[in-house]
Amino acid sequence: MAILDILRLGHPSLREPARPVDAGELAAPEMQSLIDDMIETMRAAPGVGLAAPQVGRDLQLFVWEVEAAEPGAPATARAIANPMIEPESGELIYDWEGCLSIPELRGLVPRHPAIRLHGLDRDGTPIDAIVEGFEARIVQHENDHLNGVVFLDRMRDLRSLAFREEWERYLGRTEEPSGKNVVG
Ligand code: NI
Repeated sequence: MAILDILRLGHPSLREPARPVDAGELAAPEMQSLIDDMIETMRAAPGVGLAAPQVGRDLQLFVWEVEAAEPGAPATARAIANPMIEPESGELIYDWEGCLSIPELRGLVPRHPAIRLHGLDRDGTPIDAIVEGFEARIVQHENDHLNGVVFLDRMRDLRSLAFREEWERYLGRTEEPSGKNVVG
């Protein structure tokens, strides 16, 4: 496995829509290796999600990881290709996000608290799941990357934008890469 370079805002690849992955391509060893490398890169960053365009791959593919529901149980990273999301309600909730492609900045972003997620897992098996809460936020953030959208575009009020150090010092926040704030 390998740690991949993460592109930063300003790289044109972060602003272009990614192309779908076909099922045969997904099964290829190169694609399976890419998924493993993306998971390793996400964990090393550290972050809770990573989309293929962030590592310079023009593919509708992302990985994400949340802590296991049971204390002490290992977290399991997941991958999805060709995701489609539908909001489960019209409601939006605000919480802090960051992005591995926009280092050090945090901002309040509105997201749907629950979504229905469709796509293919890394084995090509169809996914059809309801995803809620923090995990729903991660999935919406990563899905945006596949459409050339970053969290700054989703903010309704840029006045909440803060550097991480000031965000901790003045807003009393604590960085929790695998916890409360999305960094992906
Ligand atoms: Ni991001």
